[in-house]
Amino acid sequence: MEIKKVGVVGCGLMGHGIAQVSAQAGYDVVVAEASQEKLDSGIGKITKQLGRAVEKGKMEQDAADEILGRIQGTLDLEDFADCDLVVEAVTEDLDLKLEIWKKLDEVVKDEAYFATNTSSLPVINMAAATNRTEQFLGLHFFNPVQVMPLLEVIQSVTTGTDAIDVGLGFGEKLGKKTVHTKDKAGFIVNRLLVPYLLDGIRGLEEGIGSIDEIDAAMKAGAGHPMGPLTLADFVGLDTLMSISNVMYDEFRERRFAAPPTLRKMVAAGFYGKKSGRGFYDYSGDKPVSVNPGL
Ligand SMILES: NC(=O)c1ccc[n+]([C@@H]2O[C@H](COP(=O)([O-])OP(=O)(O)OC[C@H]3O[C@@H](n4cnc5c(N)ncnc54)[C@H](O)[C@@H]3O)[C@@H](O)[C@H]2O)c1
Repeated sequence: MEIKKVGVVGCGLMGHGIAQVSAQAGYDVVVAEASQEKLDSGIGKITKQLGRAVEKGKMEQDAADEILGRIQGTLDLEDFADCDLVVEAVTEDLDLKLEIWKKLDEVVKDEAYFATNTSSLPVINMAAATNRTEQFLGLHFFNPVQVMPLLEVIQSVTTGTDAIDVGLGFGEKLGKKTVHTKDKAGFIVNRLLVPYLLDGIRGLEEGIGSIDEIDAAMKAGAGHPMGPLTLADFVGLDTLMSISNVMYDEFRERRFAAPPTLRKMVAAGFYGKKSGRGFYDYSGDKPVSVNPGL
């Protein structure tokens, strides 16, 4: 089946990006939020991004208007009835996601494909809540969606090859580098990245170096664009902790367990860049490292 209309549930950090890149690729898009305020905020972000592209001469005003014209905002999932593909990007909460999938399964046409953008929940748990387990897959985008090239296309135990082909084709049309992977906690990127970030924090606890030294060492010695503690702040320390909890539950290996320093920083509300403080303080012109007081 050719995908023409894409539904996106959630217009937050990820959802607004997914809606934007889908409309930019020529799809008709309907995007749903839980409140008018959140919807306005998400669509406002898309409008701003497109406006910036026009200002920089990267896009004509007409093209930006056309892209925005292809995006319909709604508060009602009934508007997803004629979607060919629905991508869900709501808050990482299984009960919330299950409720949304059950509703979508009732209202969206039977041939449509369903995809979740979850970072850590098992795709099969959501697929099993619908009557289209073969048409259900994971499409894991990276933040910011407009910039990051990767799309992980996730096959659960029930996902059919048709659905994988739809996911791969969709990703290619969005200009993404697609990688086909399996429904195991963390997929490929977080499976490798999360233990590395946690080890950066454990290294700090064990005194192998200061925050600045650990970050500088991985930049200069491993060629990484940023060190692990800076990257942890970018991911969000609360997000990192919740992903690591899910991975630890699944694999029961120490390398996935959140170190005490991470737990304490999250308890203190130090979530990283988004909250203004993590391993660095972001209130000034330049981030300044702050010893978490181990
Ligand atoms: N943040 C990341 O780096 C990242 C990367 C890849 C995947 N993800 C995954 O993407 C999903 C969304 O994460 P996010 O970072 O965009 O979170 P977010 O909090 O920015 O956005 C989630 C949005 O879902 C909305 N929402 C809640 N209930 C809803 C409902 N009933 N109907 C419609 N919308 C509803 C919220 O209002 C919110 O705007 C999560 O599953 C997360 O694991 C996040």
